[in-house]
Amino acid sequence: MIPLNLLQEISEKYSTPGYIYDAEKIRENCTKITRAFTRHYPSTVVHFAVKANSCPAVLKIIAETGLSADCSSPFELLLANKCGFEKSKIMYTGNYESPQDLAFATEYASIINLDDITSLKRLTSFKVPEVVSFRINPGIGRGGFEGVVTGGVDAKFGVPYEQAFKAYQDAYDLGVRRFGIHMMTGSNNLEPLFFAEITEKLMHVAGDVFSRLGVAPEYIDIGGGFGIPYSNAESEIDIEKVAELVSSRFIENCKKYHFQTPILRIEPGRYITGNAGILLSRVTGKKTGYRNYTGLDAGMNSLLRPALYGAFHRIEAPFKKETPLVKTNLCGRICENSDIFARDILLPDLEEGDLVLFRDCGAYGFTMSSNYNGRPLPSEIVVDRGKVTYVRKKETPQEMLKKHFKEQES
Ligand SMILES: Cc1ncc(COP(=O)(O)O)c(C=O)c1O
Repeated sequence: MIPLNLLQEISEKYSTPGYIYDAEKIRENCTKITRAFTRHYPSTVVHFAVKANSCPAVLKIIAETGLSADCSSPFELLLANKCGFEKSKIMYTGNYESPQDLAFATEYASIINLDDITSLKRLTSFKVPEVVSFRINPGIGRGGFEGVVTGGVDAKFGVPYEQAFKAYQDAYDLGVRRFGIHMMTGSNNLEPLFFAEITEKLMHVAGDVFSRLGVAPEYIDIGGGFGIPYSNAESEIDIEKVAELVSSRFIENCKKYHFQTPILRIEPGRYITGNAGILLSRVTGKKTGYRNYTGLDAGMNSLLRPALYGAFHRIEAPFKKETPLVKTNLCGRICENSDIFARDILLPDLEEGDLVLFRDCGAYGFTMSSNYNGRPLPSEIVVDRGKVTYVRKKETPQEMLKKHFKEQES
């Protein structure tokens, strides 16, 4: 945890809004999940889902801990490559992949999880890979809220169970003999048993497909989805329990289907960086009208999750201790009425210039930010055992203008 006096110092030196990441916490999370899984199943490989946090300094820290990467776009592939992940450690999981996506994936990743039976055709039109893996939609999914459920009949992702055999048969007919299998059914799950249930489900799909095909998979990837508590009412996920339950179902089913110790892959994003990041913002204006509003220099352009999903973040004003609490509606400066972080929140009576801190913003924070309304992207800062590194400066309007015209010229 970064001490409050250091946060205050950072806020005085660097402009807000800014994401601040705790390097030690990221390392701790990498170690915790890796140890938990490898203790129960040594052939586990942990891939960090780059979509959760793409800050180069953060990716370098994660690569140094030995984790692999899971990328979802050509840019993420280039970034992972630049930040120290070797090709052998990079996996690509896209959806509705274009030929360009697949060409990038072929060049920069050693594993591609194909989203559909038709993806194979697009890929093999220029290259028949040595290993083929499909993302299976096992018909079930669960997430912290609806927007992050990525499995089940209403999810746009993956190959439906009924088409799984045909997908692998097509690859087999093209001469492919090495296979993996993948799923990602939902994000921000805190219940260990859920991970055991989905593992069981994928193992049955794998058992059915590969026994009919007469081959065994080299890896089985159960995706990410390991949640973090965002509110005081939630508890930390018992990752030891998750690893124990998943591994035991995995091992049992490997025996049942005669799979020889395939690699178990997992793809945590939120678990690695979620609780290692905060967003610092300043009050820019206060209004008393039909309701009270407190406007911030951060908005849905800086932290989208509340507007996108109704997601909850703990919001504090820790530098304003002695002030009585008042109810307010906390919002950004974006011209949308969904640009509200919290309604009727009790906070110290804030004034223009006061700091507000959002907890647990290290995943799907900066990566979801945008220039909407012509607002600059927030800054990114890494604190490593007290040492502060300013990774990305908040853009000025002039820099944004320059970039805009450069893009139009090229
Ligand atoms: C394919 C894939 N893998 C991994 C993840 C990471 O999920 P989480 O951050 O919930 O662990 C996602 C998130 O959407 C994903 O789409």
